[in-house]
Amino acid sequence: MFRVSSLSMNSTMMKRLFRTIQTGSGSDLEKLCRRIVEDERGRGHGKVANDLEKIIGQKPKGDKNSGKSILAPLPKSRRDSSPLVQDVPLDRLRHEMVLPEDVEKRFLRIEREFAARSRLATHGLKPRHRILLYGPPGCGKTLGAERLAYHTGLPLRKVRFDNLLSSYFGETMANLRKVFDAAEESPCALFLDECDSLARSRNDRNDVGEVTRITNALLEMLEGYSGDGLVIAATNLDSQLDSALFRRFDEVLKIPLPGQKEIQRLLKVALSSMKVESRLAWGQIAGAMDGMSGSEVVQIAENAAKHAVLDNRKVVTKSDILESLAEVSERQPSS
Ligand SMILES: Nc1ncnc2c1ncn2[C@@H]1O[C@H](COP(=O)(O)OP(=O)(O)OP(=O)(O)O)[C@@H](O)[C@H]1O
Ligand SMILES: [Mg+2]
Repeated sequence: MFRVSSLSMNSTMMKRLFRTIQTGSGSDLEKLCRRIVEDERGRGHGKVANDLEKIIGQKPKGDKNSGKSILAPLPKSRRDSSPLVQDVPLDRLRHEMVLPEDVEKRFLRIEREFAARSRLATHGLKPRHRILLYGPPGCGKTLGAERLAYHTGLPLRKVRFDNLLSSYFGETMANLRKVFDAAEESPCALFLDECDSLARSRNDRNDVGEVTRITNALLEMLEGYSGDGLVIAATNLDSQLDSALFRRFDEVLKIPLPGQKEIQRLLKVALSSMKVESRLAWGQIAGAMDGMSGSEVVQIAENAAKHAVLDNRKVVTKSDILESLAEVSERQPSS
C-alpha cells in the first residue's frame, strides 16, 4: 500500500520537474525543489531532505547565474567532438576524509567561504575559489576534490586531459578555452586532476617550449576565471611547483602523509563494518605503518577484513592486519 502511494508521488513530482525544466523559470524550478524537500521530509526521509535543502540553500539570491541553465551542454573537443570534461554525479562523490586538524580546518574554511559567498560579496570579498591540492601519491587529493564538490553542492566536472590535448597547439588552446568558458557559464567544481600529466605528455615528445606555452595559457585562464564555482587542481609534483603557480591559486593546500593519529583513524574507519579483536594494540600497529599513504593504510585494513570474511570469522585479528601489512610492504619498490 505504502509502496504504491510513494511511487505515484514520485512520478507526479518527476513529471512536474520535467515540465518545469521544459517550460518554467529559474524561480519555478526553485519552488519545485523546495516542494520536493518538504515531500521527502513528510515521507520520513529527514537526512535526504536536509541534504537537498543544503544544496538549494547555498544558491545566493540575485546570483548572476540564476537565469542560466545548470544543464548547459558539456564542452566537446574541436576535432572529433569527444567530451572534454566528465561530470561526477553527487551521489557518487566520496566525502569522508581523515586529515590532520590543521588541514581539515583549511578544507572547512573553503567550504564555509563558499557557503557565505553572498555575504562576502556585500563587503567586496570573494571566497577562495582557485584551489591547488598537492602532496604525495595516495593521500587524498582526488578524494579532497570530491569532498569539496560534495560540501559545496557543486557538480564535480573532471577535465579529460586525454581528449583535451591535441597534437595541434591551436586546438589544445581552443579546447582549454571551451572548458573554462563552460565553467564560467554554469557553476561547477572544475577539477584538473593530475594536472602535471599535461607537462608529462608533452615532455614525452621533447616539446618543452610547447609545454611552457600550454602551462602558461592554463595559468592565464585560471587567473582570468571569474565564475561562481571552484577550480581545483591536483598534483604530486611539489618540488617542481614554482612561485608563479602558487600566485595563481588563492589556496594552496598540502595533503601530507597520515601521521600516527590519522593512521589509527583510517584503520578504524575502514574496519568499521567489522568487529575487531578487543584490546588491539592500535598504537603499535599504526607505528608499523609509519610513512605509508592513506591509500595503503585503507587497503591493508580492507584486505585484513576480507581475510577474516573468507575464513568465516566475525572478528578481525591483529594477525590479519599484520599479514596484509606485510603483503603491501613487499610491493613497495626497494629504494
Ligand atoms: N586523507 C584520507 N582520508 C580518507 N581516505 C583516504 C585519505 N587518503 C587516501 N585515502 C584512501 O585512499 C584512496 C586513494 O586516495 P586518492 O585517490 O584521493 O589519493 P591521491 O592523493 O589522489 O592519489 P594520486 O596521487 O595517486 O592521484 C581513497 O579512495 C581512500 O580510500
Ligand atoms: Mg588522485
